[in-house]
Amino acid sequence: MTTLSIIGCGFVADLYMRSLQTFPDVQVSCVYDRDATRLAAFCAHWNVTAATGFEDFIKRQTSGGVILNLTNPGSHHEVNRDCLIAGFHVYSEKPLATEMEHAHALHTLAKDKGLMLASAPCSVLGEAAQTLGKAVRDGVAGTPRLVYAELDDGFIPQARYKDWISESGAPWPYEDEFITGCTLEHAGYYLSWLIAIFGPIRTVVAASADLIPEKIETGETAPDFSVAALYFENGVVARLTCSIVAPHDHQIRVVGDNGVLSIKKAWDNAAPVRFHKRFNIRRRLLEHPIGQRLKLGRKTHPKVGRWGAASMNFALGPVEMLNAVAEQRPCRLSSDFALHLNEVTLAIQNAGKNTGAQVMTTSCDKMEPMSWAV
Ligand SMILES: NC(=O)c1ccc[n+]([C@@H]2O[C@H](COP(=O)([O-])OP(=O)(O)OC[C@H]3O[C@@H](n4cnc5c(N)ncnc54)[C@H](O)[C@@H]3O)[C@@H](O)[C@H]2O)c1
Repeated sequence: MTTLSIIGCGFVADLYMRSLQTFPDVQVSCVYDRDATRLAAFCAHWNVTAATGFEDFIKRQTSGGVILNLTNPGSHHEVNRDCLIAGFHVYSEKPLATEMEHAHALHTLAKDKGLMLASAPCSVLGEAAQTLGKAVRDGVAGTPRLVYAELDDGFIPQARYKDWISESGAPWPYEDEFITGCTLEHAGYYLSWLIAIFGPIRTVVAASADLIPEKIETGETAPDFSVAALYFENGVVARLTCSIVAPHDHQIRVVGDNGVLSIKKAWDNAAPVRFHKRFNIRRRLLEHPIGQRLKLGRKTHPKVGRWGAASMNFALGPVEMLNAVAEQRPCRLSSDFALHLNEVTLAIQNAGKNTGAQVMTTSCDKMEPMSWAV
């Protein structure tokens, strides 16, 4: 039996608890949240032990233990830092830190202390991402050239998000989500897959904008749309889009010399991976519309049912870290990986509408519509 502890007992902590139940050998030794009411509701629901404060939480850790940081993004740096200083391995929800300077400091701290530091998301360890990675390695679609990856969530400002409540009763933290922004919240879901499959990114050309700034009454909201061209060191280029404005679209397509590898659902570990072979029929160039389903042919990992928007096993990352500690090997989700992911994500989020964009110097009058289209 191995144990881990959780700090931050809000909306996502319930998803972790539900996922951890698929790993009966892992136990949650203690949890802490600075909001006493939330902490009590969480502990009552999941029958777990509460720490009385951060110091008590640290005191209850066993040597070589893993702490799961599920606090809000604004607290990540401070909590990650304090847990590392106390001498524990840390698995942090994304982003590792909202400032690159802080992310570098955490990375150095973990290295100096010989501790593991990883950040979510961990869907890269899931079946769909691993199947896609194998298909690329096996050259199923030939040499990969271009990737289109979409993380559009629909027009969320008009969703009934005030009714979204987690299993133990935590409301979806919409203000924090809008202040943090969908790029910091979601880009990592495909970025982590792409970096794992293709390696590091050399250049980011991105644009981001806050298209609906009036989402909340007080506070400055982050971009609710971003698009990036990612130039990988291996020559592949990817276009990644994040928004909470455009219609829901979570597909990823890897375009190779022989066809296209595709997945439609980023947030489903069991999403089918398909290969759409390219061929010519007479004078037409086609990619097979349905595609051949690719399977690994072996038992993979426990799946969880759909809860809210996702069918993802959130425990895959923490369990990978626990296994790495037990087996005295590096964690697949390394601190280098987390740092690179953080840097690319922030480059996209902070692109703004002017950086790197070309300002047009010519102008023209608006065109009149056709008479039949007035
Ligand atoms: N909401 C989701 O669907 C979702 C999904 C995946 C990942 N995440 C990520 O999970 C993280 C948490 O999101 P959430 O939705 O659970 O937020 P939340 O606001 O529901 O919960 C965060 C909890 O952390 C506590 N907290 C904050 N700072 C703390 C500190 N210094 N010490 C102790 N407790 C502290 C808060 O009191 C709160 O209860 C974020 O990084 C988010 O990006 C959220």
